[in-house]
Amino acid sequence: MEILMTGGTGFLGTRLSAHLESLGHRVTRLGSRDADLTRPDSLRAFDGRRYDQIYHLAAWTQAGDFCLHHPGEQWLINQQMNTNVLSWWRERQPQAKLIAMGTSCAYPCDRELSEENYLEGRPIEGLYTYAMTKRMLYVGLEALGRQFGLKYLCLVPSTLYGPGYHTDGRQMHFIFDLIRKILRARRDGTYAVLWGDGYQRRELVHVDDFAAVAARLADSVEGTLVNIGAGEEHTIREFAGLICELTGVSPDRVQFDTSKYVGAKSKCLSVARLRALLPDLELTPLRAGLAQTIGWFEDHLDLLDDRPPGAAAA
Ligand SMILES: NC(=O)c1ccc[n+]([C@@H]2O[C@H](COP(=O)([O-])OP(=O)(O)OC[C@H]3O[C@@H](n4cnc5c(N)ncnc54)[C@H](OP(=O)(O)O)[C@@H]3O)[C@@H](O)[C@H]2O)c1
Repeated sequence: MEILMTGGTGFLGTRLSAHLESLGHRVTRLGSRDADLTRPDSLRAFDGRRYDQIYHLAAWTQAGDFCLHHPGEQWLINQQMNTNVLSWWRERQPQAKLIAMGTSCAYPCDRELSEENYLEGRPIEGLYTYAMTKRMLYVGLEALGRQFGLKYLCLVPSTLYGPGYHTDGRQMHFIFDLIRKILRARRDGTYAVLWGDGYQRRELVHVDDFAAVAARLADSVEGTLVNIGAGEEHTIREFAGLICELTGVSPDRVQFDTSKYVGAKSKCLSVARLRALLPDLELTPLRAGLAQTIGWFEDHLDLLDDRPPGAAAA
């Protein structure tokens, strides 16, 4: 198949495009330098090829407290990108199926994180604008599907982890931050100070599991939203304990700073729909996935030190 992927230079895009290529597909992988999607004409250069699938991964965000401090920019940039991609799809590539990325942050705080609640209630305050741009992306898919008969699928992953994360100094998703702080405590003989009280619960999905699931669903499911999660969550303390065990660091080297922003108390996606669609699904066990991620970090020890955002690793 002929596939175009926005966000193809990101953490997920790099692994997903490699997986799709391993299946024999031809992938045109775009980053912001290939096409600045905030510009309406950014995809014109790709008009000439007929794509079977468009994976829309590009988004402007970071982990940690980034969303708290950039709501206005997030609204403008993400809305522009999503509108430009959807508009190009309808005008130039209506034969293609568009596979877009949602986010678990879009779910309301007070209901089960199951697909029928994606557009219900109010997302968590600190991630509100980012979450709403993701909801609007899904509304856009539904609208173009309904009026023009376009084919689409929206995938909602829990936090992704695995090798190949960012090396440019931006804020890291919690699991990478935990690994980094614990490895740094080991190196320096100091303490790893984690945000919050450690009782907030989180779910992880290995990035390669996500890639395999996405490729299967993209071929077989359309016109809907599907959560992709492990179906189980752990406390930050449990993740930290496992990382300490895998890195040989004593757990009493871990401390907690309750003054820091921690986001939602609990975040575990309902995976009933996913399990019904892929009953044979097997995911990477957490211990094995973490060991692999720690191994990648140990190959990139320069990431242990804080660097200004945008500073590429050597
Ligand atoms: N990682 C997770 O745990 C997670 C969880 C839930 C949902 N998601 C969703 O999955 C998708 C991919 O996530 P990720 O972690 O791979 O993100 P990422 O590493 O931050 O990658 C973002 C991608 O978007 C591109 N991009 C940003 N601004 C752009 C612009 N103006 N024009 C064109 N491209 C632009 C970036 O290109 P350059 O790098 O070339 O600038 C990069 O390829 C996102 O939609 C995200 O919301 C991720």
